[in-house]
Amino acid sequence: MTDEPLRHEKYTHGHAPAVLRQHALRTAEEAAAFLLPELRPGMRLLDVGCGPGSITRGLAERLAPGQVIGLDLSRETLDAARREATARGLENLRYEEASVYDLPFPDASFDVAYAHQVFQHLRERGAALREMLRVVRPGGLVAVRDVDWGTVAYWPRDPWIDRFVEVHQRTWYQNGGEPQMGRQIRALFNAAGVSDLQITATVWCYATRTETAEWGQSYAERLLTSPMGERAVEYGYASRAELEAMAAAFRAWASHPDALWAFIHVAALGWKANKASSP
Ligand SMILES: C[S@@+](CC[C@H](N)C(=O)[O-])C[C@H]1O[C@@H](n2cnc3c(N)ncnc32)[C@H](O)[C@@H]1O
Repeated sequence: MTDEPLRHEKYTHGHAPAVLRQHALRTAEEAAAFLLPELRPGMRLLDVGCGPGSITRGLAERLAPGQVIGLDLSRETLDAARREATARGLENLRYEEASVYDLPFPDASFDVAYAHQVFQHLRERGAALREMLRVVRPGGLVAVRDVDWGTVAYWPRDPWIDRFVEVHQRTWYQNGGEPQMGRQIRALFNAAGVSDLQITATVWCYATRTETAEWGQSYAERLLTSPMGERAVEYGYASRAELEAMAAAFRAWASHPDALWAFIHVAALGWKANKASSP
């Protein structure tokens, strides 16, 4: 697909160091737990919107000698992911720069197509899912997991963090994404005609000193150094001074002994219809 608006998609988080550092902490054990029981060595898997590739590497280790391909739009992020894969000697893993709307692979070339925290950033979510289904073989799997920012529960309450949650979502919608993607995943798969479907939800919960420090400091830094904050100012949703106040609130929250942050993540595991076995 080459529609002009798709080329201008705006990735809300951007690829600032504070964002990548946090994404690189993710593991296949957690982020693909809903998929792991279906995986077998030798399967071919595509990880769409793989980012820094920490999840992709875990999947490649499990599926060897099966080929795993990590795909993303960000060249710099992929360069770093490639260096890390080489350092670990993962010969069945490679990375490609491309868009989910136009996957550079023939029909039915993978056993599994997976996307973690990607659909929430896409303008054309139905088109993206159809393209992932295209490259999966009949009987193969499409696995998608996304957050739902409408479920944020945190403590202790701070009016600037409340304001951040509101401004963040408004900015995200204006960018064309869907911060409350989690609750809409079943509808997305239904619309694509995937009837063999398992939906599950899990909670990310930060409630130790290390976890709240990482989360709070990361959002303080992201607000001031990534496109997330810049765009909120550009759209007129917050001033620079208000971003500073939100960042200060996150820093204070990060070290509060009562700090807790939780929100849900919804996962969909869909089997592509096997034409040979359908009536
Ligand atoms: C929130 S990050 C998730 C990264 C990784 N999957 C993880 O969970 O750590 C979303 C990723 O999707 C990528 N992305 C956004 N739009 C995309 C598109 N149209 N095609 C491919 N990747 C895209 C971004 O560059 C970013 O690396």
